[in-house]
Amino acid sequence: MNLQLAAFSLLLLLPAPPTLAKPPLEPGQAIYQKNCVRCHGTNGKRGLNGAHDLTKSNLNAFGRTYLVTNGMGKMPAFGKVLTPAQVQQVVAYSLTLK
Ligand code: HEC
Repeated sequence: MNLQLAAFSLLLLLPAPPTLAKPPLEPGQAIYQKNCVRCHGTNGKRGLNGAHDLTKSNLNAFGRTYLVTNGMGKMPAFGKVLTPAQVQQVVAYSLTLK
């Protein structure tokens, strides 16, 4: 049995069952781990270089999107590194940090 072929035809037969289609990480979480963890930490509380505790932030999605895109103080601007859609995803993820 050719496994690749079997897997391929399975993909054709089953239109993305949620359990298989779900990526291991939410896209926003992956972006966060790549770009934000070094200052904010996995839980948002690391506080390197005066990075604010994201679990205590009062900024809503709009304010966070602006800040992540344009930067502020020691927080770098990500407007050139991330697409607007990626900024939206990472902001949504940052709002889940408690
Ligand atoms: C180089 C370190 C650094 C990195 C990397 C970084 N930040 Fe920050 N972040 C900061 C600092 C410093 C501040 C405080 C900025 C200020 O007010 O002067 C901050 C503030 C914030 C705030 C505002 C919190 C508040 O209410 O004051 C948010 C939201 C935020 N960062 C999200 C992110 C996200 C999302 C990423 C990844 C895309 C990220 N940061 C990457 C250093 C960093």
